[in-house]
Parts: sequence; structure tokens; C-alpha cells
Amino acid sequence: MAGKIVVTGGAGYIGSHTVVALHQKGYDLVVIDNLVNSSEVMLDMIAKITGQRPAFEKLDLCDESGVRSFFTKYDDIKGVIHFAALKAVGESVEYPLRYYHNNLVSLVNLLRSMEEFGVRDLVFSSSCTVYGQPDQLPVNEQAPVKKAESPYGNTKQISEEIIEETVRSSSIRAISLRYFNPIGAHESGLIGELPLGVPNNLVPFITQTAIGKLPKLRVFGDDYNTPDGTCIRDYIDVNDLAGAHVVAIERMLREKNDAPYEVFNLGTGKGYSVMETIKTFEKVTGVNLNYEITGRRAGDIEQVWADTKYANLKLGWKAEKELDEMLKTAWRWEKNLAAGILDK
Ligand code: NAD
Ligand code: WQD
Repeated sequence: MAGKIVVTGGAGYIGSHTVVALHQKGYDLVVIDNLVNSSEVMLDMIAKITGQRPAFEKLDLCDESGVRSFFTKYDDIKGVIHFAALKAVGESVEYPLRYYHNNLVSLVNLLRSMEEFGVRDLVFSSSCTVYGQPDQLPVNEQAPVKKAESPYGNTKQISEEIIEETVRSSSIRAISLRYFNPIGAHESGLIGELPLGVPNNLVPFITQTAIGKLPKLRVFGDDYNTPDGTCIRDYIDVNDLAGAHVVAIERMLREKNDAPYEVFNLGTGKGYSVMETIKTFEKVTGVNLNYEITGRRAGDIEQVWADTKYANLKLGWKAEKELDEMLKTAWRWEKNLAAGILDK
């Protein structure tokens, strides 16, 4: 297909896997990233997998004139997959304005330029965090959006509203993808999640503890109303997630969308508890984890997993990878990091 796909945040965790998936489907693409939470070396790693380093523009999407210059330079853009955002929930509570500014101004700048330059199709990274603790499980796309627990979560809710209203008043079409909990890494072990500092999320915490980078994993609460008392999440493989982005942008490019604005859950439909995740990790890697049960973490949802029927039916997409496979690739990546794979 002629024309380029822009991947904002393409040096980051989910973006880099999506760049690989797009490349494998033959798409021409260009990455925008300001590297605030990633490293340019990830583009070299992508090149090792695909044989081609993606075109790259180091750009802060909050820079309105920079965004306009980008769209002037690349006049053959077909669609945009917008991953770029800050994503640390705790940090967003500490620095709310940093989050509102970065995540919202970047989106507004992007939409403005898309309108101005006649680029129609946008895929947006949203999150299951918009559901809070759902009243019914599994949670489907019709469930009400609950008051956000954090400024980060609120940026996702507001972004969805900004996009929906822009679509209503322009020729732009968009799909918001609400990810559940992305984990795992590319099977090559060459790209994966690269948390800066101490990770926030469970799986990087597990792998960093297993490799000895962190002394101990804390399990945040075992007194929830779940079978083993620990929280339940729908962990989805990052490669499955990447594939869904290719399908979503193609859906619009091929005029297959049912409405100018659509929302899909991206999960497996299966929930696993924190303890099940730890036990599965120990089983597939043979590594015993040093962990202790501590108090609950503020703001944690007790349990959530996706109703995937709508995405399965409409996108013709289904998550394939099982938890043990996701944990294996996450572990391979962590071991490669420890062996200095990014320094070579
Ligand atoms: P990530 O931090 O690895 O990737 C985001 C990338 O965006 C980084 O490379 C960062 O440098 C870049 N970026 C941030 N602000 C920018 C700006 N103003 N201009 C240009 N580049 C900028 O995060 P990820 O895990 O790959 O997440 C991608 C998207 O998915 C984010 O929007 C995130 O909120 C969303 N999401 C992530 C998760 C998750 O658990 N990882 C879950 C749900 C939704
Ligand atoms: C999973 C489970 C923790 C770390 C976050 C964001 C959400 C979305 C996905 C972007 C929970 C427990 C964790 C640890 C633990 N991101 N845990 N010890 O909380 O579902 O969601 O990422 O949109 O917005 O809030 O994911 O990986 O942080 O936690 O026991 O050291 O693991 O309590 O039950 P979460 P997580």
C-alpha cells in the first residue's frame, strides 16, 4: 500500500513491537519519539529483527510547530498510530500537570495537524483503566467509564473524549484500543519493556527480582475477594497487542469500520491472580522468586478481565499467547538485558 504509517512513541515498549509487526506486513512507516522514556538503541534492535532501521524523527509532540513541520516533510502519510504518552500512574499523582500537558497537548497537536494535512486515520492507545473496578466481569466496551483513579487514567478518558469530539466535527476517523495488561517481549529477545528506574508493573518487577536487580518482590495484598486473595488481571502478550494495531489501522484504511469512531477492548478474556502469575513464572523459568506479602497498594483494582467478543468479531483478531509463553519471553528479554544486549 502506498503511503506511510506514523508510529508515535515507536521507540517505546508497545510501539517497538508494533513497528516490527507493521514492517512484517510490508508497511512503510516513520517513528516519532522524543525518547523521554525510551532509547534510540531500540531502533537498532528493531533493525536486527526486520533487517531495516525504521525512519525516525526525534520530536516532542508537544511542540506544535515541530509537528506541523513533520507533516510538511512527510506528505504521504496515510495513518497514525499514537502510542506516545507518559504512563506511570504514581508519578502522575505526584506531577499531574506534567501528565495533562504531555498526554493532552501532544494529542491536540497531532489531531490539528492531521486535520490540516488531510490525514484521516488514527489508532489511539487507551487503557482498561477507564473502567475502574467494573460492576460486571468480564467487562465489555459498553461498561461505564468510572471516575479516574489518577491523573494518568484521566488523560486516557479525556483523550478518548477529545478524539470522539474531533471525529464528530471533522473527516478524521479513529479507533481507541483499551489495552488490559500488556506483558512479554518479542520472541527474538531483542526488544522488550525497558522500565527507567524501579518498575511499577508486576512482570518487570518479577523479572528484575529474578535476575537479582531488585532484592524482593512485594505482593500488594492477599486479602482481596478473589480465590487466593490476590488481585486478578488480564495479561496480554505485547506481540498479540501489536498485531491488533495493524488490524485496526487496516480496518480504517480499507473503509471497513462500522462508524467513524470505534472502541475495542484488547485482552485475552482470562484473568490471572498475582500469585498465579508468580507461580507460573517460577514453573516456566525454574527460578524461585524472593517475594513477601505486604499491604495493599493504594488505588489498585481488585479484579478485571476483558470481554473480548466485540474485538474478536469486528476486528477478526484474537489474542493467541498464553501466560507461560508471555513470561518466558519476558524472562529471555531480562536475561539479554543483563548480558548487555543493548551495549553491543
Ligand atoms: P513507553 O513509555 O514504553 O512508550 C511511550 C513512548 O512515547 C516512549 O518511547 C516515550 O519516549 C514516547 N513519548 C512520550 N511522550 C512523548 C512526546 N510528548 N513526544 C514524543 N514522544 C513521546 O510506553 P508503552 O508501555 O509502550 O505504552 C504505549 C502507550 O500505551 C501509552 O500511551 C500508554 O499510556 C498506553 N498503555 C500502556 C499500558 C502498559 O501497561 N504498558 C497499558 C495501557 C495503555
Ligand atoms: C498488576 C497487579 C498489583 C507490582 C497498571 C496501570 C494501568 C495500566 C496497566 C496503563 C496488581 C500487583 C504489582 C508489584 C504487586 N497501564 N503488583 N507487586 O495495576 O493492573 O495497572 O498497568 O494504562 O493504568 O495502573 O498493573 O502491573 O502495576 O499490577 O503485587 O511490585 O500486580 O497490586 O494487582 P495494574 P500492575
